[in-house]
Amino acid sequence: MTLWSGRFDTAPDPAAFDFGVSFGFDRALFEDDITGSLAWADALGVAGVLSPDDARAVADGLRAILEEGRHDPAFVAGPDEDVHSFVERKLVERIGDAGRRLHTGRSRNEQVSLDLRLYLKRRIPALQHQAAVLVEACAGQAERAGLALMPSYTHMRRAQPVLVAHYFLAHAAALRRDHARLAAAAHEADALPLGSGAVAGTSYPIDTARLARTLGFSRLVSNSLDASSDRDFVAAFLYAAALAMVHLSRLAEDLVIFTGEEHAFFDLADASATGSSMMPQKKNPDPLELVRGKAGRAIGRLTGWLATMKGLPSGYNKDLQEDKEAVFDAEATLQASLRAAHAVVSRLSLNAERAERAASGLLLATDVADYLVARGMPFRRAHEVVGALVRRLLAEGRDFSTLTLEEWRAASELFGDDVPQAATALASVRARQTPQSTNPAAVGAALEECRAWLKSCGLGI
Ligand code: ARG
Repeated sequence: MTLWSGRFDTAPDPAAFDFGVSFGFDRALFEDDITGSLAWADALGVAGVLSPDDARAVADGLRAILEEGRHDPAFVAGPDEDVHSFVERKLVERIGDAGRRLHTGRSRNEQVSLDLRLYLKRRIPALQHQAAVLVEACAGQAERAGLALMPSYTHMRRAQPVLVAHYFLAHAAALRRDHARLAAAAHEADALPLGSGAVAGTSYPIDTARLARTLGFSRLVSNSLDASSDRDFVAAFLYAAALAMVHLSRLAEDLVIFTGEEHAFFDLADASATGSSMMPQKKNPDPLELVRGKAGRAIGRLTGWLATMKGLPSGYNKDLQEDKEAVFDAEATLQASLRAAHAVVSRLSLNAERAERAASGLLLATDVADYLVARGMPFRRAHEVVGALVRRLLAEGRDFSTLTLEEWRAASELFGDDVPQAATALASVRARQTPQSTNPAAVGAALEECRAWLKSCGLGI
């Protein structure tokens, strides 16, 4: 028995009906569906559409169903087309005819939009929390690293020395943008669609502003026709999730490289690595590789959803049912990946000596050029002088630290005996002057600011 069988002569063909059944996955909306129906019953009562007795019976019945479903998840099951049909069937079984009045003036089109909006508003904060927990792990690594140095890269070639703390705070910065993007997606979902009816609005005097307040929405949708098919809030969420996964994937890629034998700036803890069934020496970064791999899946959910939306004519279309599995899968993928990334990052150990050695040598060339600029040489000229020096050192298999004062002076008269102190990785980071730079004082301030942000998220020391 469906919610719509009255109009039909024959029972549906299972091949067609089963294909459209969504209860297998939209049961995740059980709580939100009841939250919405409780508010709708109240609104019908206030509007005088439901008698006070019926309104009370419906509310009591819905609460009992919610209790039972919370207590026993296996209760939320049956041959129903979707979660909305399930709740209505259970209500009628429990309270009889009064239950048949609940759907007055309401359509599943707005109901499903409401449920998914409530779901996202309820669940997004858990993702934000998990992102903040990962930021905290990055800040912890930054704190422990102190003045430790490592190379930064451009084009995957050694570029300039940076503090290890600066490196971890770089990933924290991207994750904090994800946190804000998730908040923006929750805000996009934060409009009440009830009152839209099937598509043209409802013909009962529903106080939608009151209903919005009851359900915790900050605003109403502005157009019922738009609202019946608007899933921009789903796209916004999938975008936030996909971009967060892109960031996690880049972090994972970095750490696969930096924990490998060739770099070995960091060691993976045994607890966050796996072994090989054949090669006894292997310690594989499986969790990182899986995070990187799952980014493809999250991106697929976003692009798949955009492709579904683009062909839809105005008003509700059943294609929209595809939104839910995309949301649930992207959510689960992001949540699990954030946790896995946290497990790895929080247990990474730094090989300070090895990282610093990689941050020394010819990647100090810019600092050597800046030394000449500080003594009056035009930068383009200094670039040439130092370039020639680098060419020679490369040919001889040496670096700046092996040059004698005479050799420095042969390259340029402007070099003085203080040049060896200027051409170190630590001097290089100390020479940076801007607040976003790797200057130790700037990084210290950035870490402070990050700690304050974590505190505003209810985390941190
Ligand atoms: N399961 C449907 C969905 O997810 C619920 C809305 C059904 N509305 C309808 N007119 N068939 O979109």
